[in-house]
Amino acid sequence: MDFSYSNKPMNELDDFSRAVEAFLQKQDWTPTRFGRELAGDPQFVFDLREGREPRSDTRERISEAMRKFADNRTLPPLKVGVAGLGTVGAALVDMLQQGAGNLERKHGRRIEVVSVCARSRSRDRGVDIGEYQWFDDPVALAASNEIDLFVELIGGEDGPALAAVRAALDAGRPVVTANKALLAKHGVDLSRRAEQTGAYIGFEAAVAGGIPVIKTLREGMGAATVSRVYGIMNGTCNYILTRMGEEDISFQDCLSDAQALGYAEADPTFDVEGFDTAHKLALLSSLCFGSEIAADEIFVEGITAITQADINVARDLGYKIKLLGIAQRSSEGIEQRVHPTFVPESSAIARVDDVLNAVALETDHIQELLLAGPGAGGLATAASVLADILDIARGHNVPPLGVPTSELVPYLRAPMRTHEGGYYIRLNVRDVPGALAAITRRLGENAISLESVIQRPDLRADSAQAGEENTRTLVLITQETLESSVRAALEKVADDGFTTGAPQVIRIESF
Ligand SMILES: NC(=O)c1ccc[n+]([C@@H]2O[C@H](COP(=O)([O-])OP(=O)(O)OC[C@H]3O[C@@H](n4cnc5c(N)ncnc54)[C@H](OP(=O)(O)O)[C@@H]3O)[C@@H](O)[C@H]2O)c1
Repeated sequence: MDFSYSNKPMNELDDFSRAVEAFLQKQDWTPTRFGRELAGDPQFVFDLREGREPRSDTRERISEAMRKFADNRTLPPLKVGVAGLGTVGAALVDMLQQGAGNLERKHGRRIEVVSVCARSRSRDRGVDIGEYQWFDDPVALAASNEIDLFVELIGGEDGPALAAVRAALDAGRPVVTANKALLAKHGVDLSRRAEQTGAYIGFEAAVAGGIPVIKTLREGMGAATVSRVYGIMNGTCNYILTRMGEEDISFQDCLSDAQALGYAEADPTFDVEGFDTAHKLALLSSLCFGSEIAADEIFVEGITAITQADINVARDLGYKIKLLGIAQRSSEGIEQRVHPTFVPESSAIARVDDVLNAVALETDHIQELLLAGPGAGGLATAASVLADILDIARGHNVPPLGVPTSELVPYLRAPMRTHEGGYYIRLNVRDVPGALAAITRRLGENAISLESVIQRPDLRADSAQAGEENTRTLVLITQETLESSVRAALEKVADDGFTTGAPQVIRIESF
């Protein structure tokens, strides 16, 4: 703090001290809050009271901040109740405590956390929650007339999160949530409730953490028609696939490291099997195509079966493997799919590595818009929650799903078998004469043309490891073809008995 002896007449300092004390009394602020928010030093008022004299430029700066504060106080503070004080909730409370003054100066309205709720009242969360009213029950907090806005950071598709969000909306209270599972299942119903009571639902943090993709889609796309949305929306999977590619280590080893580093849950099923990505894709898809949320209609394949051989072949062919969520219009309806994908190494999405997320939008006006950044983590996610809170503080209100629920069209699923694209197929083939000819014949019968056939000694190790001594590993790259043709051909190949085990099939996406 820039204290020093000042030769200003004492009455100026006295006036300043009196102005500070009057401000504290009028605004009912603690000295610490004044110091933190207007002086940049929590000790400022205590030091002032003890006779330490701030320099004249410091006094002027603080006097100006007090004046601005008084000018801006046309709107009452927005009183916020936060349910869930875990990774995101605690980061949000901390962010609001540290930055409330700046936010108010910038946005013209004070944001105040007034009540909080979690399971354990005594748990140390690294933030001081002593000033706030405590609720054991999130529903009671959501229904409390003491708050203007309810923030749900509990998680889970049903249970207390759902009950509390419903209670807030039914009371006409806006809600901000980071809960993709809840919205993927109940988003349309909750949006309808919000419309009925004039409430608002902000869920920027629910998709790709810190990336402002919801606002972009809801408000930033103007009249553009989206033809395809795709993205890397799970940091755990991206981290694992990136490390497998860079360090030639197995899926299991990468997963263990991700768990040790806190990037993966103790039970990683939800992430690595693709369900987390599917929830986010369902929300994006609804916003892009104006259709009802259809999370149960998504084709989902995770990354657990990806081997180093797959990653190495991809690299040699100029691709990387990424877990993508993709939704696109086709002549059959809307295709929604989550699966490991060969993406050209030269594409922008291929360069989104480690725990980063990215969402790409293709529209009739813009060839491709790619938003990339941190997809998770307390700070990044809380920043998106806060962006929604600030929108609400400014009186912002748009339909949660971009259009009124009455205008959402029913979701028309394009069956996966009608998907068209290139395919990477890895087979364990018995080392007997005629096997390769039989396989290529089956592909030909199903109108599948091959772009390349790869048989390399290093791939053989893969089948030997799997206990298949008398097999060779064969990789086929197809030209664009129908999913139904690939499935039919591989069924016949299996029936012919020249292969062992299940084939590995990875879709190739072109951009
Ligand atoms: N973490 C991320 O990076 C991230 C990113 C994007 C979105 N999200 C979403 O944000 C939400 C919160 O995630 P998180 O990682 O912060 O979760 P978390 O660390 O597990 O925290 C959950 C919080 O909810 C509280 N809670 C659980 N059940 C409760 C109940 N019945 N009543 C009251 N409080 C209850 C817990 O209380 P206790 O602390 O007392 O146990 C805890 O404070 C989830 O929907 C998640 O999907 C998280």
